[in-house]
Amino acid sequence: MKKKKTRKVRLPNVAIDGPSGAGKSTIAKLAAARLGLIYVDTGALYRTVGLYMLEHGVDPDDPAAVEATLPEVEISLSFEDGRQILALGGEEVGSRIRTEDASRYASAVSKIPAVREFLLDEQRSLADRGGVIMDGRDIGTVIMPDADVKIYYTAAASTRAERRYKEQREKGIEVTYEEVLAAIEARDKQDSEREIAPLRPADDAVIFESDDYTIEECVERVCGIITERTTKSEP
Ligand code: DC
Repeated sequence: MKKKKTRKVRLPNVAIDGPSGAGKSTIAKLAAARLGLIYVDTGALYRTVGLYMLEHGVDPDDPAAVEATLPEVEISLSFEDGRQILALGGEEVGSRIRTEDASRYASAVSKIPAVREFLLDEQRSLADRGGVIMDGRDIGTVIMPDADVKIYYTAAASTRAERRYKEQREKGIEVTYEEVLAAIEARDKQDSEREIAPLRPADDAVIFESDDYTIEECVERVCGIITERTTKSEP
């Protein structure tokens, strides 16, 4: 009997990098759901390392202390209905990684080479499975240099500050626009001027400036870029 030929279809990998507060994760999550890909939030990994340091009184600006503590950090990552679940020592981190303190710790530890090395294998093995949309700062440049599609997703600092300011006011958090803008500019500077894996667009990335679009329009455009770049016309 003739055996049926089966062809394994490898799903594309998509890298989305960009500064904090541009809305990458919202758009990447929606685009992944629409295209049947898995959304991987790499910032959450750095946040989880930062959280461990925060909860154990380790100074995130002391690279030697952070490096010495890393072997204790037990992170596990799983997916449930497309949702990424991160646990520290077996306990889900949930929203504990989203506080202002956790953000500050994440940004500080992400500058330390040993931390980036510590998280490298986890991210590469996720890329190896194929079919992921991974967002972060160095995905197209370091983690998935061979990604099928690379998008540098950005917005002006003032646009990002306005969005975050609105969000925080809606949550009842007392902040001024100037404070939010200053925090965003400080984080941009830290992420793009650090020596290791600085935030920058990969040479082959499509630059997408999201300032003038609604969320729905951004998803539409990002899905359009991915589809266009992964659909090869048959000869
Ligand atoms: O995307 P985010 O705001 O959740 O990221 C948290 C911090 O982690 C941010 O300060 C930058 C850092 N980060 C990084 O250095 N590399 C990544 N691939 C993702 C995040």
